[in-house]
Amino acid sequence: MRAGGLVLLPTETVYGLGADASNPTAVAAIFEAKGRPRFNPLIAHVADLETAGRIADLDDRAVALARAFWPGPLTIVAPIKDAGAVCDLARAGLDTVAIRVPGHRLARAVLESFGGAVVAPSANRSGRPSPTTFADAMAETGDKAAAALDGGPCAVGLESTVVSVLEGEARLLRPGAVTRAELARIVGPLAEAEDDAKRSPGRLALHYAPDAPVRINARAPEAGEAFLAFGPDAEGPTIFNLSPTGDLAEAAANLFSFLRAADRTKPSAIAVAPIPEDGLGEAINDRLRRAAGFIG
Ligand code: TXA
Ligand code: MG
Repeated sequence: MRAGGLVLLPTETVYGLGADASNPTAVAAIFEAKGRPRFNPLIAHVADLETAGRIADLDDRAVALARAFWPGPLTIVAPIKDAGAVCDLARAGLDTVAIRVPGHRLARAVLESFGGAVVAPSANRSGRPSPTTFADAMAETGDKAAAALDGGPCAVGLESTVVSVLEGEARLLRPGAVTRAELARIVGPLAEAEDDAKRSPGRLALHYAPDAPVRINARAPEAGEAFLAFGPDAEGPTIFNLSPTGDLAEAAANLFSFLRAADRTKPSAIAVAPIPEDGLGEAINDRLRRAAGFIG
């Protein structure tokens, strides 16, 4: 990474494709490897809150959120303080930076020894489901990486929650592993992102999509369809049950790898059972609506 190479890195959420955030050439190679539009900024990963505070202007609310959820699946968008530490290209020219301290042991070991910020978008090619296993990460962008770390399957399986803490109230830019209710306990009720696509370009519709079309809120599969079930009483050859017990954390952890597994059966479509909207369900449904091509 110091030499400008890309490194496949496990985190607790999904696998990332990491590079030195201060090196524009390395950062350009990430956009290239993913086929990612240059207007979509990257998340800077650091070892601890102290390092984050040197890079971003963290106000009291940001520090409170960091203390509550770091290391962990929360990304905080705050004004950039050290523009050299996370280069312009990585921020897509914005005067803000998205920053997080991941919880995965291997990611933390890399960040601690690297010292500076590592930008790491999800390791999928742009528009595809995020990889949650080493094999899936290798299949997506492994050929572009100078090194790859196998950290096993990702425990959370959904990307981090993205919250902006700028002027005015805190805003939820991307629902994720830390739920709205958990955030509200620290900073009060969150405002919505007013201009979704511009504020957090990763929220563009038709994202996280497998090859087969996705049909959401389906009670049962139609002929030729694979089915992602949720809860008891679902069985069959092309049925993948996100959580037989109806547990949202288990469903989140399984979501992307099951979409990929269902896709491999070459179905006419992937039908997905209704998922309750509470807790982690908000983030699961956000990803499903995007996979299905609806704006969330
Ligand atoms: O869990 C995760 O967050 C994973 C792991 C690898 O850490 N990373 C990830 O990165 O999901 P990526 O690049 O796939 O998504 C980053 C999201 C995008 O929606 C992007 O638009 C948003 O963060 N973002 C980045 N910088 C931003 C900024 N300055 N303002 C608003 N949104 C920003
Ligand atoms: Mg992504």
